[in-house]
Amino acid sequence: MISHKVIEKNSILMLVLTLVVVSIGGLIEIAPLFYLESTIEKVKGMRPYSPLELAGRNIYIREGCYNCHSQMIRPLRDEAERYGHYSLAAESMYDHPFQWGSKRTGPDLARVGGRYSDEWHVTHMKNPRDVVPESVMPAYSFLAKTELNVPDIAGDLIANRRVGVPYTDEMIAVAEQDLRTQVNPDADEVDDLLARYPKAQVRDFDGDPSKISELDALIAYLQMLGTLVDFTSYDAEAGKR
Ligand code: HEC
Repeated sequence: MISHKVIEKNSILMLVLTLVVVSIGGLIEIAPLFYLESTIEKVKGMRPYSPLELAGRNIYIREGCYNCHSQMIRPLRDEAERYGHYSLAAESMYDHPFQWGSKRTGPDLARVGGRYSDEWHVTHMKNPRDVVPESVMPAYSFLAKTELNVPDIAGDLIANRRVGVPYTDEMIAVAEQDLRTQVNPDADEVDDLLARYPKAQVRDFDGDPSKISELDALIAYLQMLGTLVDFTSYDAEAGKR
């Protein structure tokens, strides 16, 4: 046996042994990945974000919501009971950058979609204290007043396609129209939008039909979170080969 004293006094030996230990650790982490068919499980329902949802996501990032909110439900019982099914890798496959977050001043938002009404979100975003008196979340009342920069959205789809999100040429060409359609249930193009983005929720989200506000986009994004994957057909074992 080499005593620890010897290792500590001989830097080369120390270095070699450190490398050995680190390589074993590395192998244990990396080797199993070669035996998995995919680290992203195959699930039904996941699709790229609709233009309005993507615009909302951009606002979420711009406003730094991730500083207080995570979007990753860990596979632990208390989390699953509070927030719902643990997050799947597939659920953030179109997120560039991902929004897992590492700080939970507020609750996890990975499955907040459908949990509250649009009106609740409007009131909450304008002044969180109106619905949760003890809330420390800042007010974002300006979002309701700020018109969304709609013509920019095609560029955002193109940028996402460059990093691997499968937006088609058609989706990019009609991005602006799709965005306007999603806040207008009376539009003729609603069926086309739903064909491109199944399960997209179509309505005026902020309760103000006079304009498309940043709040429309943000609420569309929040109401979509966690609602895409069809868990009735999800088989947790299938992903493990
Ligand atoms: C300073 C930290 C902080 C920031 C920044 C913040 N929040 Fe919150 N958020 C909270 C806290 C705390 C709560 C819990 C109390 C409440 O509901 O207001 C919360 C609650 C929420 C809820 C309700 C979640 C639930 O399940 O009840 C939503 C939705 C939400 N925030 C969205 C956002 C969005 C969108 C942004 C960015 C525009 C944002 N938050 C920024 C702290 C924050």
